[in-house]
Amino acid sequence: MRPHVLIARAVFPQILTLLEQHFEVTSNQDDELWTPAQLIEKLQGKQGVFTTGSQRIDATVLGSCPDLKICANMAVGYNNFDLEAMTTAGVKATNTPDVLTETTADFGFALIMATARRMAESERFLRAGLWNRWRYDMFAGSDVHGSTLGILGMGRIGQAIARRGAHGFGMKVIYHNRSRLDAPTEAACGATLVSKQELLQQSDHLILVLPYTPESHHAIGAAELAQMKPTATLINIARGGIVDDAALALALKNGVIAAAGLDVFEGEPALHPDLLTVPNVVLTPHIASATLPTRLAMAQLAADNLIGFLLHGKAVTALN
Ligand code: DGY
Repeated sequence: MRPHVLIARAVFPQILTLLEQHFEVTSNQDDELWTPAQLIEKLQGKQGVFTTGSQRIDATVLGSCPDLKICANMAVGYNNFDLEAMTTAGVKATNTPDVLTETTADFGFALIMATARRMAESERFLRAGLWNRWRYDMFAGSDVHGSTLGILGMGRIGQAIARRGAHGFGMKVIYHNRSRLDAPTEAACGATLVSKQELLQQSDHLILVLPYTPESHHAIGAAELAQMKPTATLINIARGGIVDDAALALALKNGVIAAAGLDVFEGEPALHPDLLTVPNVVLTPHIASATLPTRLAMAQLAADNLIGFLLHGKAVTALN
């Protein structure tokens, strides 16, 4: 009998077709947002599930879905998985590393540029019909080239951003990470390891690219923002919850830092309402990996993980 697989959110039609060639598939092409209880109900009798970052797989789900053998996340981040509980339950977890690295780094850089050069704010001004003359200091932002780029979290995406900064924009690149990169990788990234305090104090543009864990919850809050330069920008393309968004909104309002660029939010898709009231923030809806080729590659890899594990006993990019 063919394994049963649940696809928890809408996917590319060709990925649905691919999975239907191998499995009995229950799909969700209407992209309904299921409650945890609905997810559990849909998972009954399923050996595999194709998830995005928005379905939580924890001990409750695992305990209620005894047939489940693999959860294939279409995301590199997997904070929606309780990996320990999955490992204990003997359920395979997979994610989609590598295929999104360069695309996500491009977007990180786009947000650095948009934030430093006040692109969203100035576009809103122009669209509102407020532009009636050139002025010497109009929307004067900060330089990206030649400035100091700080990177918190130095995995694949952090390294790809470092290469862009060091080699494309002549930036001084500093980073803080749990472990130091090996010397050849540091050289390729043109990056220097510093303490978190040095990172906060020295960065002109600080970008967050670390995983969301209990340890990284509110890694940037009021105390950290207070250590940054008043001219600095902060960019979050990692996960909501790493930044204390309420503290950030206040810091932006009070000029503690100059500006922020945020692609992820605590409690997204809801936003802290104060973020909508400050002009010096660029807000995007979690799209750092969103180019069609990259999203297709992510979906393909998640599908390959289901096929590899359920049909041949080996996932391509296993987390446990
Ligand atoms: C990822 O891959 O983790 C992106 O944030 C998309 O969820």
